[in-house]
Amino acid sequence: MARARGNGYLRAKLRHVVLTRAADRLTLGVLGRRHRRQAIEVRSIEVTCPRWPRAFDGVRIAHLTDFHLGDLMPLDRAVNAVERLAALRPDLVACTGDVVDLDSHGAEPLLAAMGEMPAPLGRYLVLGNHDHLDDGHMLASLAVMRGMQVLDGQVTAVGEGDDPLLVGGVDWGRSVRELDRRVRALPQVPHLLLAHNPKAFHAAARAGVALTLSGHTHGGQVAVPGRPRLNVSFAHRLSAGTYLRSGCSLFVSVGAGAWFPLRVHCAPEVVMVTVRRG
Ligand SMILES: [Fe+2]
Repeated sequence: MARARGNGYLRAKLRHVVLTRAADRLTLGVLGRRHRRQAIEVRSIEVTCPRWPRAFDGVRIAHLTDFHLGDLMPLDRAVNAVERLAALRPDLVACTGDVVDLDSHGAEPLLAAMGEMPAPLGRYLVLGNHDHLDDGHMLASLAVMRGMQVLDGQVTAVGEGDDPLLVGGVDWGRSVRELDRRVRALPQVPHLLLAHNPKAFHAAARAGVALTLSGHTHGGQVAVPGRPRLNVSFAHRLSAGTYLRSGCSLFVSVGAGAWFPLRVHCAPEVVMVTVRRG
């Protein structure tokens, strides 16, 4: 028997049919083909965090977000991006959600690719809004089976010795207030927080979280050349790149995928983040 899906899924499906498939058909498939040909960049950045623990100075985090596996992100394109980032040998893997666009079905090989990345400090995932559209519980279960730790309000201590790195994650939240509740409910203040929505940074900076990693905005997908923050993601002030507030840092990746087949001056990316204390 077919599983009943919620209104959120139906709305997203309708948006997908109208904005993505119809736009692609109107351009005789040119938009979609051009979008899928656009290379996913493997970008390396350095983030300096005053509150980062000294023992983990120089730690390298593979940050992946917003694959939106589906029509606009074939599996081989996503797995190839994961493998190119894995080849750089990260210490820790952080996926900040929207692994799938609509349907969780078919996500297992991508979760497996991320779960097999060599990373001595572990592989972590928080879910995004799109991950919840179909079956977030199933996606989370598959991720765990494939070697990822799903963080939904937990903080985990990684590394050896008396000075571990505290890695926390919060599930998808839409508003600043909702995310504020989620961050405040964490059992302790992590050094590293994964949150799909960068709006979590308001609470994270108040709590003293050294570094927050987020996605969700896609950097607006259309930006002014050379000015990634001048983009059409009008609902997000924290839309792309690094931000610093009260000694706490945020990095927002523009992500690997899209929900509309167009990215202008906003190249898709997976990112190696080297974290420096300083
Ligand atoms: Fe997304």
